Amino acid sequence: MCGIVGYIGEKKAYPILIKGLQCLEYRGYDSAGIALISESGSLNVYKAKGKVADLKVFCEDKDVTGTAGIAHTRWATHGEPNSTNAHPHYSASGRLALIHNGIIENYLTLKEKLIARGISFKSVTDTEVLVQLIEHIMISNDITLLEAVQVALHQVIGAYAIAILDRRHPDTIVCARQSSPLVVGLGAEGDYYLASDASPIAEYTDRVVYLNDGDIAVLQLGKALKVVNIDNETQHPNVKQIDVTLGQLEKGGYPFFMLKEIFEQPACLRDCMRGRINVDADRITLSAVIDYCEKLVSARRIVIVACGTSWHAGLIGKQLIESLCRIPVEVEYASEFRYRDPVIYPDDVVIAISQSGETADTLAAIELARQAGAFVFGVCNAIGASIPRQTQTGVYIHVGPEIGVASTKAFTGQVTVLSMLALCMANERHTIPVELYKEMVRELTLIPAKMEKALKTNEQIERLAPIFTYARNCLYLGRGYNYPVALEGALKLKEISYIHAEGYPAAEMKHGPIALIDSEMPVFVIATRDRLYEKVISNIQEVRARGGRVTAIVTEGDTQIQKFADHIITLPDTLECFQPLIASIPLQLLAYHIAVCKGKDVDRPRNLAKSVTVE
Ligand code: G6P
Repeated sequence: MCGIVGYIGEKKAYPILIKGLQCLEYRGYDSAGIALISESGSLNVYKAKGKVADLKVFCEDKDVTGTAGIAHTRWATHGEPNSTNAHPHYSASGRLALIHNGIIENYLTLKEKLIARGISFKSVTDTEVLVQLIEHIMISNDITLLEAVQVALHQVIGAYAIAILDRRHPDTIVCARQSSPLVVGLGAEGDYYLASDASPIAEYTDRVVYLNDGDIAVLQLGKALKVVNIDNETQHPNVKQIDVTLGQLEKGGYPFFMLKEIFEQPACLRDCMRGRINVDADRITLSAVIDYCEKLVSARRIVIVACGTSWHAGLIGKQLIESLCRIPVEVEYASEFRYRDPVIYPDDVVIAISQSGETADTLAAIELARQAGAFVFGVCNAIGASIPRQTQTGVYIHVGPEIGVASTKAFTGQVTVLSMLALCMANERHTIPVELYKEMVRELTLIPAKMEKALKTNEQIERLAPIFTYARNCLYLGRGYNYPVALEGALKLKEISYIHAEGYPAAEMKHGPIALIDSEMPVFVIATRDRLYEKVISNIQEVRARGGRVTAIVTEGDTQIQKFADHIITLPDTLECFQPLIASIPLQLLAYHIAVCKGKDVDRPRNLAKSVTVE
């Protein structure tokens, strides 16, 4: 979704805000804007359609002085992406400027009331309604900005993270959160930073406060952080230490974050397993399983809720948990689950998987599960995000910030955590023999090294990629554990190259997609050596018989498939259930190189946002 940055202090605000926006551009980027209280005391708002770079160009000849400012990257929800609808929005008198992430659901009702009182609007956004409402309340009741925000938020239905500058109080930013993340950074000189996540703040301070839902914070230069709620009750902020290093946020010599993140995966999975798998590689310890063992192992059913790539990881989790723990698992799109009036039992365990920990639909699904009395477990990457805070327990995937919009390392991190979780629970439930458990744990620790080998296919894939740039449709086939890999491979291609692609269970191809196959349709088949290997070979032959062009992902040493496939990509062998961790690597690389060949902006695909914090 949108990104928010703010600064108030002694330093020049403009460079901090622009850099912060660039850090957050991965969240959404159809327009950007900035508000600064200049040295002369004026409140200047500059906005531009497009990327932060366009805003920078727009600001070149403008007055960007001042040490207080707020800034925003937008991913449109209300109103087309243009500079009028971009944030910040001025209040009617021009005294206030406000930025907002989220959706004000009752904005039309509020807008009608304001129009009836003679207030006119420049944009069609819900955000402008909010700033007009706050100013109207402030002026008509002659109260402070904080008081006006409290009164206004009582009237607002929806999700928001907001930040407001008041020209008359150039040393203060007022901000608030409800269902949309906001982090305050505490500077060393009594100065304050503000952002949607900690990444733009990490360069300046490691002391942060994650605001909670309902919090309203007053950041006043040189004064202690004040946090209250809409009823003016004092809240006690919890200061946390963050450890996001700058190196983690930069591209480290790679042309795109996505490629960096693909190559980081072996190191990330080592981080993910560190401290959880013992040095002898025969035991997994997850504190969440120790603390809530009874709840987890006695689950009558597990329901996994997630969106996008995280949902694909959930499909793999289902197979792992069902086969190792013998507990039935359902995997639900969070967006469907929340509105389907699902049957939820108090002895269900609901696992919410989310890279960002902020996806609105997944959060709503959690809330529904909690209300029904289920035990809710989170699998997240972003530390301190809303999902980890709203679940009873969980496991972080610990793969570091993921910046590329197309998720890669978070997916393999999620699958790794789900593998560890399934093994831990199976061991507790005695549903797998101890020797098999140990063998599987050992094999899991070998995955990062096998991924390194799989990454060596990069050059071959880079050479192959131009062949596929002409394609208008592609088919990805896999069975068993490799079926979700096919779905994920197709999603990656769609997301960044804009080529239509479908993932399908290989055997189901006969029931429809086979009609599409001709010599123009590339078919990618994941045909690693497993229980269904022979059957996948038959599926490849069915494709070939219709003139289809097959690229097969196979296990090293395979001599059979090369007889039928046009191209072969070879991967190291592993246990069938861990195959997705290896087999997804060439598909990530394929999507990446095809998109690069087509000249696409891999890290910023059109219309997509890294974190979808609206439904
Ligand atoms: C967006 C992102 C996807 C991600 C999905 C779920 O669509 O572009 O990459 O898989 O949201 O996000 P989450 O943060 O909940 O995993």
